[in-house]
Amino acid sequence: MKVLILGVNGFIGHHLTKRILETTDWSIYGMDLSDDRLGDSIKNPRFHFIEGDISINREWIEYHIKKCDVVLPLVAIATPKMYVEDPIAVYELDFEMNLNVIKQCIKYRKRVVFPSTSEVYGACPDTEFDEDESFLCVGPIRKERWIYSCCKQLLDRVIYAYGTRGYLEFTLFRPFNWIGARLDSLETAKEGSSRVVTQFIADLLLKRPISLVDGGHQRRCFTYVDDGIDALMRILENKDNCCRNEIINIGNPRNECSIKELAEMMKKIFMEHPLHREDESYSEIVEVPSEKYYGSGYQDIYARKPSIEKARRLLGWEPKFDLEESLRRTIYAFLDEYK
Ligand code: UGA
Repeated sequence: MKVLILGVNGFIGHHLTKRILETTDWSIYGMDLSDDRLGDSIKNPRFHFIEGDISINREWIEYHIKKCDVVLPLVAIATPKMYVEDPIAVYELDFEMNLNVIKQCIKYRKRVVFPSTSEVYGACPDTEFDEDESFLCVGPIRKERWIYSCCKQLLDRVIYAYGTRGYLEFTLFRPFNWIGARLDSLETAKEGSSRVVTQFIADLLLKRPISLVDGGHQRRCFTYVDDGIDALMRILENKDNCCRNEIINIGNPRNECSIKELAEMMKKIFMEHPLHREDESYSEIVEVPSEKYYGSGYQDIYARKPSIEKARRLLGWEPKFDLEESLRRTIYAFLDEYK
């Protein structure tokens, strides 16, 4: 199988690439702005990398959509700080650029495996979010945080409409707070604009206060990347067409915690690390209003838990890594690279 991955150096892209090269005989054609996360994958003869930008290198993309069997358009801005700071960039990249790719997949009748997001459920009141039943609930326009959720939702709907009318074969997957090595770069975390787990690791390393936005009562279910990639591999394998035109949550409902509990657990793991056991001081945990941390365009999601019944049924998949182990592996990987 020939797999095209746009955004191959991103968090999901580079983990998926490594797994495909290690466990299959598939070839990968990948594009990204840089290759710093790709490690040894770059040397593999079945991996064909080109440094490029999806908004510029359109001919290369069209040629490779034609040539490949399955397309994963993984390019997106995915950090809440950016949704409120630069919503236009989010719209242009996450929506417009990806729509172009989807249209090419329709033109050449290629299967697309598209990253939807847990964010599409927004402030849904259900205790567990169901792919085919739950309402997708977002806030007012002035709360610009929701632009990402809306861009992804509209693409989900466009893909679904073309797919169910027979113009495209698709699977939409919805990651729920995947974490692991190289989630975001520590550089973006230094500026305070990365996702929460990378942010807390950078705060711990720099001995800066860990900020609990609005007290940290919000709840998330953190999913270890190896579990997420297991599910994604089963989607790509698509045994007996089990994922044809399906939407699938990929998350770990057993790993639910509040952001406050997350901060405490991460601090404990950091303090036990051999390199930091003897540190003279550690970050304190403080509370910060969301208005101050993100600005007035922010609104939070207080609870987010996936139903994974469908992933179990269609993929025979079950996440294995509990919360503490997932965080320990993630923190240790970051500290190893930082060293
Ligand atoms: C994330 C991002 O939108 C996407 O990466 C993705 O599509 C999706 O959710 C996902 O990974 O499932 P969110 O979980 O809100 O959204 O993003 P984080 O930045 O990781 O924040 C999680 C929570 O921690 C939020 O409630 C935020 O307010 C809080 N937070 C963040 C803090 O309390 N302190 C910080 O320093 C940073």
